[in-house]
Amino acid sequence: MSLIELENVTYHYPFCKEPALRQISCTFEKGKFYGIIGENGGGKTSLCNLLRGLIPHFYRGTLEGRVTIDGTDVRDWNTGRLSARIGYVFQNPFTQISGIKPTVFEEVAMGLENLGLPKKEIVDEVLRVCKLLDIENLMEKSPNALSGGQRQRVAFASILAMDADILVIDEPTSQLDPQGTQDVFEIIHTLRGTGKTILLVEHKVDLIAEYCDEVLVMQGGQIVRKGPTAQVLADPELAELGALQPQVAMFGHAMAAAGKPLEEIPITLEQALRLVRRRRGEI
Ligand SMILES: Nc1ncnc2c1ncn2[C@@H]1O[C@H](COP(=O)(O)OP(=O)(O)OP(=O)(O)O)[C@@H](O)[C@H]1O
Ligand SMILES: [Mg+2]
Repeated sequence: MSLIELENVTYHYPFCKEPALRQISCTFEKGKFYGIIGENGGGKTSLCNLLRGLIPHFYRGTLEGRVTIDGTDVRDWNTGRLSARIGYVFQNPFTQISGIKPTVFEEVAMGLENLGLPKKEIVDEVLRVCKLLDIENLMEKSPNALSGGQRQRVAFASILAMDADILVIDEPTSQLDPQGTQDVFEIIHTLRGTGKTILLVEHKVDLIAEYCDEVLVMQGGQIVRKGPTAQVLADPELAELGALQPQVAMFGHAMAAAGKPLEEIPITLEQALRLVRRRRGEI
């Protein structure tokens, strides 16, 4: 049994004629890191909403097919228990902040308080994640006074504090500068070694190439590609499917078109450099 299983899933938001998700069948295995890419409106966030149980519990609409998490149908999951299993980082960090806590420290602690943990444990855990995300200097600030990037870090810290074993992360770096983006990816990468299952929606495909085990491409509510990262990102049809391709993969295809193919299509810069050097007989 896979951790998450979808079987012929079609979902319509209320009063919508077109389905946001169409006939999706796929599985997600425990401990793997999945990247989800694809066009705007392709269904990525809807897929996340489904896995968090917001579809069908909150959004209603019509859900056909079967979705199981740990063998239990998503319709039968208690939403409170499901949200303790699945940590979620929103696409828009402004919606993630509760708005009811006066400081970042209390914001990050909120989920742990709701679990009724002893105060000392809560304080230690909040300090740990704030340190990890480099937001110790923000702990006494009001969450409402933060920039988008700072909010994203706070949102991330709140989720990490809850220690859920499945993380669904929807474009966590959309408000961050390149350094902040790299930092967040490094945090996600660290989490990978801890046995957590990670589903990451992200347009920055070079980072997906670097870190993910598998990649899914969504278009028109369907999963149009799913497979090992190197295989999916090297697919020459990626652009037609509405997804971005790593720049070095485009370079690999251009070399092939010019009659000078590399041994394989690279997806990371390091790999591209190695292939070019090998082609030139340097290694
Ligand atoms: N709350 C909603 N009510 C009705 N329709 C919705 C809702 N949310 C999304 N949709 C529609 O469902 C489809 C899939 O949207 P979704 O937000 O899942 O795509 P996405 O891949 O996350 O896009 P983006 O890259 O822009 O975030 C779109 O046609 C969108 O208009
Ligand atoms: Mg989205």
